[in-house]
Amino acid sequence: MARGGRTKILDLLKTPKIDTQVTVKGWVRTKRGNKSIQFIALNDGSTIHNIQLVIDVSNFDEELLKSINTGACIRADGKLVKSQGSGQPVEIQVADLEIYGVADPEKYPLQKKGHSLEFLREIAHLRPRTNTFGAVLRIRNAMAFAIHKYFNENGFVYLHTPIITGSDCEGAGEMFVVTTLDINNPPRRNDKSVNYSEDFFGKQCNLTVSGQLEGELGALALSEIYTFGPTFRAENSNTPRHLAEFWMIEPEMAFYEIDENMDLAEDFIKYLVRYALENCADDLEFLQKMYDDSLIERLKSVIECDFIRLDYTEGIEILKNSGVKFEFPVHWGLDLQSEHERYLVEKHFKKPVILTNYPKEIKAFYMKQNNDGKTVRAMDVLFPKIGEIIGGSQREENYDKLVSRIHELNMAEKDVWWYLDTRRFGTAPHSGFGLGFERLLLFVTGMANIRDVIPFPRTPKNAEF
Ligand code: 4AD
Ligand code: MG
Repeated sequence: MARGGRTKILDLLKTPKIDTQVTVKGWVRTKRGNKSIQFIALNDGSTIHNIQLVIDVSNFDEELLKSINTGACIRADGKLVKSQGSGQPVEIQVADLEIYGVADPEKYPLQKKGHSLEFLREIAHLRPRTNTFGAVLRIRNAMAFAIHKYFNENGFVYLHTPIITGSDCEGAGEMFVVTTLDINNPPRRNDKSVNYSEDFFGKQCNLTVSGQLEGELGALALSEIYTFGPTFRAENSNTPRHLAEFWMIEPEMAFYEIDENMDLAEDFIKYLVRYALENCADDLEFLQKMYDDSLIERLKSVIECDFIRLDYTEGIEILKNSGVKFEFPVHWGLDLQSEHERYLVEKHFKKPVILTNYPKEIKAFYMKQNNDGKTVRAMDVLFPKIGEIIGGSQREENYDKLVSRIHELNMAEKDVWWYLDTRRFGTAPHSGFGLGFERLLLFVTGMANIRDVIPFPRTPKNAEF
């Protein structure tokens, strides 16, 4: 349907109706030509491809044509014809032009092609108009859709877990506090600590680091659920893989043990990569050409291989025997860094690896304890170029074991009474995982920095726009 009084360039190019009158609207990418004929490449964000507008200069006001520069927004009416040039299949012979908004060539920051990604981060308000960010944002949209499609096809219920919460799921203490107290003069208790009982929620609250705990409540009623929402971590890590605000997909399933959890993670991620290959071919080809020669080959290889499943303990042995001098020396108990994860995936196995049975000390309180007393049924999915893309586990469903772990970690039992209730009433074996949406997008787009796969990145000292 031609909404907005125009045909989208994507539709126009997909099924070109030669010799019909069309209207297009969009932003000028380039203008070139001579005194008698000019060519405008117009883009409306519906596709990586531009439509070529052919303008017979004698038919138009000179001033009007002069003010159509790179970045201007225009409407063009005319006849769609087979292109005489070799660069494009069709073009529009323009009969009428209207300017919605000019873009002063002296001032418009996206004047030329080939700006660095660093520069584009400083103008995140305009970068969606570049080919690169058009492609990335369309792929991001396709992946979000595919995630909902996958879970719907598999009978999972989309559960909306809260963004403001009183709990700390991961226990890593990296939370943003949500308060309406006067931070210059908060009410205080006798011991000078802030008295949150006078705060909006009557207790200290924060932005969620994960929807998992509430997701488990849903799974122990609806049996298979997923969440897909923003999560927040105040960790001061300025790396190409960390954001302070990122999106996470968290399926949680009653009656799954760790093996089925791994099966689901592998099937899910392969489905998403396949969906991208089948539905985002133009954008992927563009990104491959611009940034990453082996992008499409790498995506295909992930679909075709079986992921390696490996015990943490075996992984440590491989790393120790690798002869590589890592920045963080390897020992049993080490919380693996991206250098170790990438060694296993890229150098040793050359395919994705699911690492399981981690030491309990480096994992969260809720993970199911193994009988060895040392390890838990954690599973991290490690990917080429990324490292950890998924973190998950089977959950401790035994009330006594869970409570004793909570005590060991000096957590306040009263803060999670509602979580513990699920283990008191109708508990069940269950499992789940979290996929970092932007980590997935790093893999699918081949972009190297996580700031370039989210429209408006939030990182330490950076919350412009
Ligand atoms: O491994 P994490 O911390 O696991 C959890 O939060 C669990 N509660 C998930 C669950 O079992 N339901 O985070 C899960 C994933 C990571 O594997 C990573 O992909 C991503 O979230 N992630 C981040 N992505 C971007 N920036 C950050 N700061 C991230 N921290 C984690
Ligand atoms: Mg993790």
